[in-house]
Amino acid sequence: MSFESAQTDSAPLEAILLVGGKGTRLRPLTIGVPKPLLPTAGVPFLAHQLAKAAAAGVTRIVLATSYRAEMFEQVLGDGSEFGLELTYVQETDPLGTGGGIRNAAAHLRSGPDDPVVVLNGDVLSGHDITAQVELHRKADAAVTLHLVQVPDPARFGCVPTDLAGRVTDFLEKAPEPVTNQINAGCYVFTRKFIDAMPAGVVLSVELETFPGLIAAGETVMGYVESAYWLDVGTPEAFVRGSCDLVLGELGSTALPGQPGDALLLPGASVHSSAVLSGGTTVGAGSSLAAGVTATGSVVFDDVQIGAGASIHASVIGAGARIGPGAVLDGVIIGTGAEIGSGNELRHGARIWPGVRLDGTAIRFSTDA
Ligand code: GDD
Ligand code: MG
Repeated sequence: MSFESAQTDSAPLEAILLVGGKGTRLRPLTIGVPKPLLPTAGVPFLAHQLAKAAAAGVTRIVLATSYRAEMFEQVLGDGSEFGLELTYVQETDPLGTGGGIRNAAAHLRSGPDDPVVVLNGDVLSGHDITAQVELHRKADAAVTLHLVQVPDPARFGCVPTDLAGRVTDFLEKAPEPVTNQINAGCYVFTRKFIDAMPAGVVLSVELETFPGLIAAGETVMGYVESAYWLDVGTPEAFVRGSCDLVLGELGSTALPGQPGDALLLPGASVHSSAVLSGGTTVGAGSSLAAGVTATGSVVFDDVQIGAGASIHASVIGAGARIGPGAVLDGVIIGTGAEIGSGNELRHGARIWPGVRLDGTAIRFSTDA
């Protein structure tokens, strides 16, 4: 992989990437790997976000880490691969979204009036970050939030705006949302408004900072753009996001190959009679035997899938073994788990790492 920053006329842009969450809704996948590093369309999820940020002219990113903090630098290094300078900051105890931003800000070089981009680390978005920054500058705003319309706003931050595009309220996970317009998890802050947040305490931008700025009469703008948008925080959304990237529904320069029906990583071996579709990824060292059908799924590295198995809308963790004829539909299989032949698992089933579900004895052979 190699990424270049876009040439821009404006000053170098810095960003903070929030990656400290535990990713509990994605367990068991996130037991060993934090959500932002899960293999997504063949690369760690963050590779897509980093490539996009670099293309928008971001040059430095401070990663606000906590859960499994040490893994981020191991995987992403100094960022040169992405045309970025990456700095890692660790919260020993998670400080929340606001506390994480405030803590990371100590490592920024931007001046008090410069715009700083802040990104949730689990969002795929096709929106134009440069246009969002432009709106922020023109409005001379304290913060400018990317907003999108979704059918299920109660799961997100509900954000009404007035006719001028100014945010009038911020209602996090409101049981009765007043609009379908939600916080998409990409903010532009004027630096001094980050420095004004209390330091060293647990703080939520959604529950405290944004409502506080609005109540104080500061300019909080909404940048509404209905490009591709997805929070990959649930199993269904994670699978969808990976498949959409493979299919090219969302363009990403981090995709290791051309968009298409399926992505095979180097060292994957797929029998000629197996059928892959719907943006399925097959990880390095994984093998799919004769007659396997895999639609809209994510198969991590070193997985073995036996003859005639059928995999749909599922994630198969690294090193898992799926017996011949097994049917997996809408499930997550943890690292190294073994699903015996003929088992049928459907609808949100989650198998923990190393668990073995007996079927008929699992037998694999290269010519099966
Ligand atoms: N550093 C740090 N410290 N990061 C954190 C912490 C923390 O204590 N807690 C959460 N994060 C990071 C997560 O890793 C994730 O990247 C981001 O902050 C958002 O956390 P989620 O747990 O994914 O929140 P959410 O999806 O329920 O809601 C948020 O995102 C929605 C859009 O996807 C909110 O910002 C909503 O308002 C928004 O609509
Ligand atoms: Mg989220």
